Amino acid sequence: MTKEELYKRALEATELSYAPYSNFHVGAAVLTKNGKVFTGCNVENASYSVSICAERVALSKAISEGFREIEAIAIAARSEDEVKSAPPCGTCRQFISEFGKDIEVIFLSPEGSLVSEKIASLLPWGFEL
Ligand code: THU
Repeated sequence: MTKEELYKRALEATELSYAPYSNFHVGAAVLTKNGKVFTGCNVENASYSVSICAERVALSKAISEGFREIEAIAIAARSEDEVKSAPPCGTCRQFISEFGKDIEVIFLSPEGSLVSEKIASLLPWGFEL
């Protein structure tokens, strides 16, 4: 699967996003090493800090189904009908990094090009036990 195809899956996942407070609809698509794709979206809450990001939903779906070998994760965002840049937040970087320093993270840059970078370069000095 190409990074463009995985990004497209993430963009499609924005359709299911529950974001009545921010109207910022995020989708994520996780590609496992054996070629399976798990998608997720952000799920907001009236108690704002309880909300969860799309990346952690998609990754948790993969992990909870027994897939821990992760190749890549793509993230996409949309506000109304406008596609937005969506690099992962710091919490999600730490969450992704738990499952492999070589995971490719794919997202749109503010200039509109598709970026693909290893999580280790997006999160230097991540916390480890
Ligand atoms: N959000 C994500 O889903 N992923 C990120 O990496 C950053 C932010 C969501 C959380 C919230 O629902 C909305 O985007 C606005 O912050």
